[in-house]
Amino acid sequence: MSLVYLNGDFVALEEARISPLDRGFTFGDGVYEVIPVYNRRVFRLKEHLERLENSLKLIYMRNPLPVEEWKRILDRLVTENAGDDQSIYLQVTRGVSPRDHVFNDEMQATVFIMTKPLEQPDNSAGSAAIVRPDIRWQWCHIKAITLLPSVLLRHEASLSGAREAILVNQGLVTEGAASNVFICESGKVLTPPKSRQLLPGITRDLVIELLQQNGIECSEYPVPETQLRSADEIWITSSTQEIVPITVLDGEMVGSGQPGPLWQHAARIYRDFKQEFSQHRSSDV
Ligand code: PDD
Repeated sequence: MSLVYLNGDFVALEEARISPLDRGFTFGDGVYEVIPVYNRRVFRLKEHLERLENSLKLIYMRNPLPVEEWKRILDRLVTENAGDDQSIYLQVTRGVSPRDHVFNDEMQATVFIMTKPLEQPDNSAGSAAIVRPDIRWQWCHIKAITLLPSVLLRHEASLSGAREAILVNQGLVTEGAASNVFICESGKVLTPPKSRQLLPGITRDLVIELLQQNGIECSEYPVPETQLRSADEIWITSSTQEIVPITVLDGEMVGSGQPGPLWQHAARIYRDFKQEFSQHRSSDV
């Protein structure tokens, strides 16, 4: 049985009920987070809760819960659900209302949280990606649940036997449909700077921090599509996938067609950081 949280109650997933008039259902009016858990410790919790706060602010919602309450709820779910390593999905919508686009401050947010066991990804074989126009909206810095463009892009990727669609807006790489993008060129690592066109990924920020701490040059710089196509290495990052080397782009080999040396280095640094975190005794929750 999987225990979930819904609006103040802890219930079995099968028993959780949400009204069809929830604005998440009728309008996709809400935001979410996906947070990894290692050895029952929530990874980068502060950063995820800060991003949630920011997403809520940008859609004119108050955070329905204080930080201590978020921590208490996540702590219980992570303790009671299966798996030392888990992935938390949390979603906040503007709640139930008659179907009308216009909202007001009186609406009661819906808060839903579930977790599932998380398998450690093995990215060593490399993956394929396709390049597509960024057909999403202009506020991609909000982690909105309204994901139809991303769903269609990832469907297209999967029809091509690829793992991800890397998106290009006005000639510049923004991000993947569900990941951030890094490229390597002449021993240096580049990733597009934060803007409204991309999600400020928690993994992205951590990868930049860890590379810089370990003496690998990494800068935030606009990446034209041409530079993506000629890169020595391409990586995509996300909380559950970590750092994935893209070895085939639109059917063409990236660099040698194998995960490159900078990826090997970055993956080792990331793994060590995670290991250190998960062995730490005191709870982060
Ligand atoms: N997606 N960009 C987009 C559009 C994303 O959807 C995601 C993550 C990321 C990476 O962010 P982070 O490093 O904080 O996970 C970037 C999640 C995991 C999802 O939708 O399932």
